[in-house]
Amino acid sequence: MSVQDYDAVVALWQACPGVGLSSADSQESIARYLARNPGLSFVAENEEQLMGAVLSGHDGRRGYVHHLAVHPAYRRQGMGRALGGRCLAALADAGIQKCHLYVFAANQGGVAFWQNTGWTLRDDLFMMSYYTNNE
Ligand SMILES: CC(C)(COP(=O)(O)OP(=O)(O)OC[C@H]1O[C@@H](n2cnc3c(N)ncnc32)[C@H](O)[C@@H]1OP(=O)(O)O)[C@@H](O)C(=O)NCCC(=O)NCCS
Repeated sequence: MSVQDYDAVVALWQACPGVGLSSADSQESIARYLARNPGLSFVAENEEQLMGAVLSGHDGRRGYVHHLAVHPAYRRQGMGRALGGRCLAALADAGIQKCHLYVFAANQGGVAFWQNTGWTLRDDLFMMSYYTNNE
C-alpha cells in the first residue's frame, strides 16, 4: 500500500462496518504510518477496483495488524487469509515473532475469520485507552 491508494482504501473501509475509523485514519496519519512501517501494508486490486486492504506495523517489539477489509464481492475466496498472511510474513522478516490486533467484540464474522486463520482470542486482557484530546 502506498499513500496514493488512500482514497480507494478509505472508501473500502467506510463500506465495511467491522472497520472502526477515527481521526487516526486521516490521510496525514496513514501517510505517517506507512512511512514508519515501510513494506508492511498491502492492497489487493484488479484492473477495475480495489479488492482488499490491510495495515500492519511494529513498534520494535510486537507487530500489529489493523483494518483488514475485503470488498464484499470478493469474500470467502482466501483473500483475507492471504492479506493477513502477507503482513505476518513481512513482520516475521522484520524479526517480529508475535502480533496483536483489535477486533470489535460484536464483529462475530471478524472474530471467526481471525480464529480460523490461526489467531488466538485472548480472555486474559482488557484493552484500555487514554484520550488526550477526546478523540
Ligand atoms: C473478515 C474479512 C476480512 C474476511 O475476508 P475473506 O477474504 O472473506 O476471508 P477468507 O476467504 O480468507 O476466509 C478465510 C477463512 O476465515 C473464515 N471466515 C471468513 N469470513 C468468515 C465469516 N464471516 N464468518 C465465519 N468465518 C469466516 C472461514 O473459515 C474462511 O475459510 P473458508 O471460506 O474456507 O471457510 C472480510 O469478511 C471483511 O472484510 N469483513 C469486514 C471488515 C472486517 O470486519 N474486518 C476485520 C477487522 S478486525
